[in-house]
Amino acid sequence: MANKMALLEIHRVSKQFGSKTIISSLDLNAEEGSIFGFLGPNGAGKTTTIRMIVGILRPTEGKISISGYDTVEDAIQAKMITGYIPDAPYLYPKLTGYEYLELVAHLYGLKNFKKRIFTLAERFDLAGSLEYFIDSYSFGMRQKLSIIGAVLPNPKLVVVDEPLIGLDPPAARTVKDLFIELKKDGVLVFMSTHFLEIAELLCDRVGIIDRGELASVGRLDELMKNKNTRLEEIFLRLLAERREEGSDERRRWEALADAAGRSKTC
Ligand SMILES: Nc1ncnc2c1ncn2[C@@H]1O[C@H](COP(=O)(O)OP(=O)(O)OP(=O)(O)O)[C@@H](O)[C@H]1O
Ligand SMILES: [Mg+2]
Repeated sequence: MANKMALLEIHRVSKQFGSKTIISSLDLNAEEGSIFGFLGPNGAGKTTTIRMIVGILRPTEGKISISGYDTVEDAIQAKMITGYIPDAPYLYPKLTGYEYLELVAHLYGLKNFKKRIFTLAERFDLAGSLEYFIDSYSFGMRQKLSIIGAVLPNPKLVVVDEPLIGLDPPAARTVKDLFIELKKDGVLVFMSTHFLEIAELLCDRVGIIDRGELASVGRLDELMKNKNTRLEEIFLRLLAERREEGSDERRRWEALADAAGRSKTC
């Protein structure tokens, strides 16, 4: 445990869109063989950070490396060991599910992938639909295909922007089990989520981002020192404290934190 390697290193990363600073000097490490929860309110900068990790966006300042590969300088090497599940499944509508996964397998240079495709598809109850065009898939089916595509090449890092959106209860369960298995296999799962119960259940460490700044980061068990305090209450209180004293917003967040504190005794 103590000697796990920092697989993902985010070093003083800032991102600006025009004159707007969205991410300010973000420093964050996450270890192999763990699940890291990236939490924060709407618009805090989670997706922007995730897009920089997977190389869709470039940091304005700072560096991100994955297993030592710089996401800008060594972009291909970094991408070869990364699986990405975006917040919405952007897929090719005129490919069948199987053709899409085959394309992913070829892009990553996989051999003998057919059995693995069907094993994963069966776990997600999607094997019977692989012969159909993605066009005909429901949102949840697309999400499942996107998840399968991300883990198919056995990446070292799986980056997930909201893992459970649109999934039915069996698929949500499968995703949770899959993430735990990945962790046991030494993979780092880096996920953003608004479902704090999921973070509590799965994550070893969490980081809370607020207005582009890292407001808190640490081991979940340390953060929840008082075992009676739920992550929801910690999250709401932290955000309230960061709002201007006496402001309506601060009062609103405090009231929500109080309510979360009370509801734990129910
Ligand atoms: N391409 C862009 N151009 C300008 N502003 C952007 C761009 N992309 C994101 N932003 C802004 O960056 C901020 C952070 O957005 P981001 O999508 O990273 O938030 P988020 O934490 O993922 O929120 P959510 O929980 O709603 O998914 C928002 O204010 C958003 O409007
Ligand atoms: Mg987002």
